[in-house]
Amino acid sequence: MKEAFYITTPIYYVTDAPHIGHLYSTVAADVRARYERMLGNDVWFLTGTDEHGQKIQRKAQERKVTPQALVDEVVERYKDAWKDFEIQYDDFIRTSEERHHRTVRKYLAELIEKGDVYLAEYEGWYSVSDEAYLTETQVKDGKSIESGKPVELIREESYFFKMSTYAERLREYIEKNPEFIVPETRRNEVLGFLKQGVRDISLSRTTITWGIPMPESKQASKKHTVYVWFDALTNYISALEPDKTPEKFEKFWPEAHHVIGKDIIRFHAVYWPTFLMALGLPLPKQIIAHGWITMANQKISKSSGNAVDPRELAKKLGVDAIRFFILREFNFGQDGEYTRETMYQRINADLANDYGNCISRVASMIAKYMGDGENVVDIDGKASNLAEVCATAIPAYHQAMKKFLFHKAIEAAWTIVGAVNKCIEDSAPWALAKSQDPADKSKLHRVLWECHESLRIASVLAHPFIPGSSVKALDFLGSRQSLDSQSAMKDLKWGSGLKKVTVSKGAPIFPRLEWDKEDVG
Ligand code: MSP
Repeated sequence: MKEAFYITTPIYYVTDAPHIGHLYSTVAADVRARYERMLGNDVWFLTGTDEHGQKIQRKAQERKVTPQALVDEVVERYKDAWKDFEIQYDDFIRTSEERHHRTVRKYLAELIEKGDVYLAEYEGWYSVSDEAYLTETQVKDGKSIESGKPVELIREESYFFKMSTYAERLREYIEKNPEFIVPETRRNEVLGFLKQGVRDISLSRTTITWGIPMPESKQASKKHTVYVWFDALTNYISALEPDKTPEKFEKFWPEAHHVIGKDIIRFHAVYWPTFLMALGLPLPKQIIAHGWITMANQKISKSSGNAVDPRELAKKLGVDAIRFFILREFNFGQDGEYTRETMYQRINADLANDYGNCISRVASMIAKYMGDGENVVDIDGKASNLAEVCATAIPAYHQAMKKFLFHKAIEAAWTIVGAVNKCIEDSAPWALAKSQDPADKSKLHRVLWECHESLRIASVLAHPFIPGSSVKALDFLGSRQSLDSQSAMKDLKWGSGLKKVTVSKGAPIFPRLEWDKEDVG
């Protein structure tokens, strides 16, 4: 049965072009979305940009442009990057859009009406960089302990949300639903926050103008702008336009999977669910928090000056190589250290040598030793352990994909590639080809057919990660049709690919990269 599957990325602050950290969340969501589509499921994949708040307002001032001009310019850099990286999103939301404003204001009006929002004064710390209110215990030496970003003291009239009312219900929910927040380390962290006690949070600012105006109220002495995190989180629903397309909202919202970085876990796993509880809406299905890509053990970010431009990398190394590298090299739930050297090594070892080279070798041996018309093999025969390797790898791959353990999924698919390489070495087709014994000829055909079938399976499994190159590989193998089915992943069975093997020639799929220490661009 076709299942609905909704997946989101964080919406990114449009202060500057995306870096490799932003790409990480986006490729991860894209890979899972592609995988679900290949299972035949009904997928909705949302990404977008977070365009309001003090951070953007300040950046615009610095650049002497209006906030609108800034966001209009930078959003294009995100869209261009996602296009380069073949991100197949279904919708792109900008929080400056009317559909978003409409939903944010409607929900706030509902919360006020319900009595979950009250007017008071906020006096305390605020980190503009994180757009976060902080308590005394979260601040040390003028900086947020968690993010290391500077904080400033603010004092202003503010609307507050009665978050404390919902904290216990949320704690119980998390306890009862172990899969709600993954990985477990992050779940424990959230339970830890809740244990410390939850305070009501400020929902509006009076000193910020770049944002969504709060619904009017006679009690307020000034004009209020909606706190940027309430604004931002609501994007996951406003994009579905529950007022205009309620069927779409009802179908996808309960199936929501939020892919985020661990830096924004508190907003997604405490603020967002309590807002939803107050609004009487279902909670998302899952929050998946990945680790940071670091350089010299520091989170990569524009403000640290260590940002890596993924588009520049892709120009040199290829889009698929970068997509593959970030999801293979790092364990999705944990931090991972980025170095150019490990990147080159990983791409050369896994893609150029093990995979690309293997495809070329098998394709050229088939062309050489199994000319057209001669390649009918005994389908029931067996010349290697490759069928068993695939039978173990496929379920391991599915299990890992369902758990967002991308590195494990690739590892599983690559056990097939490794086994094919070994099978070629062990069976030495070039020697079999020289033999005059008809049994050797039959074995030769069978071996090559098994290698071919295994590489077909590995390429279909690799498709969500390396969409362009896996298609090239399947073209080489004459097996492009393996992707045609609406449920290509589900239909993936040993022997279902081909009865007759035809191959074509072409340039290497992943040319070997020359590692150049001086090359730091
Ligand atoms: N606008 C908020 C998110 C609102 S979601 C309702 C925001 N934006 S951001 O531009 O700062 O991007 C944050 C996300 O980018 C992180 O949560 C993470 O997913 C990704 N990353 C940014 N830097 C990263 C690394 N160095 N490593 C891994 N991911 C990183 O926060």
